[in-house]
Amino acid sequence: MTPKILIIGACGQIGSELTMSLRKTYGNTNVVAADIREGNEELMTSGPFEIVNAMDYDVVRNCVEKHNITDVYLLAAMLSATGEKFPMKAWDLNMSSLFHVLNLAKEGLIKKVFWPSSIAVFGPTTPRENTPQFTIMEPSTVYGITKQTGERWCEYYNNKYGVDVRSIRYPGLISWKTLPGGGTTDYAVDIYHKAIQENKYTCFLSENTALPMMYMDDAVRATMDIMDAPSEAIKIRSSYNLGGISFTPKMISEEVKKHFPEFEMSYSPDFRQEIADSWPKSIDDTSAQKDWNWNHEYDLKKMTNTMLENLKSESV
Ligand code: SER
Repeated sequence: MTPKILIIGACGQIGSELTMSLRKTYGNTNVVAADIREGNEELMTSGPFEIVNAMDYDVVRNCVEKHNITDVYLLAAMLSATGEKFPMKAWDLNMSSLFHVLNLAKEGLIKKVFWPSSIAVFGPTTPRENTPQFTIMEPSTVYGITKQTGERWCEYYNNKYGVDVRSIRYPGLISWKTLPGGGTTDYAVDIYHKAIQENKYTCFLSENTALPMMYMDDAVRATMDIMDAPSEAIKIRSSYNLGGISFTPKMISEEVKKHFPEFEMSYSPDFRQEIADSWPKSIDDTSAQKDWNWNHEYDLKKMTNTMLENLKSESV
């Protein structure tokens, strides 16, 4: 049976690309995009669109009932850097939206839930190299606390109420179509824009800060794969580690220099450095590989080529 899909937070960095991929796979009319604000034209015109405040249970429920939704992808969230500026708002948004969707599933109104977690669930006491699936997790950002708490609740709803919830711990996501907002890994997107516009970039993280990252096409494929897998294959109901690439600002700037030899990179670390320092440098995702055949495709070189090609053709 074709699912009827609702994406909450469809106009954001992940949502704008995931929505289009889901529409391609399941048909435009079967994929409802929802957000608190309007998005790009392609997203708004290629299929149904609803204004939805993820914090308002009645609005979310009405939308689910109106469109006979079976699967919800909940992408609305406040990310790590903005979360540190508005801790209570981040907690309220990230937790209330999750409870609304989990409760709709518990009541049987929807069948399947996708909710993203993040590398932010890890903290300064976590082993930072090749971080295992099961390890010490003492997140030090509000965002990380909401994702860790969310993971516990997802697992709880699955154990106690049989809710079919699936989750991935996304690394930093890199894409050219829609800008990220308020994250610690955003520099790895900014750098490409600035390379094209100004041939220079001042990075808010120091040159040797390694973080796990992933190109958006891989992230979208992972999301669709985990949602497509048979329920029995999904053995972890908190959230799966997802690896991808691991690089430092220096490494990405060297890759950019291969395209723009005059490119200048400077470093001016701010409060986000401390956040980055508390996160893993690289991730072990063998559980995702084993359970639902995950494998990433893009490395730093391929991603850089794709980012610059697309951004260049956009800017002409
Ligand atoms: N990209 C996110 C952030 O930097 C991590 O999930 O907040």
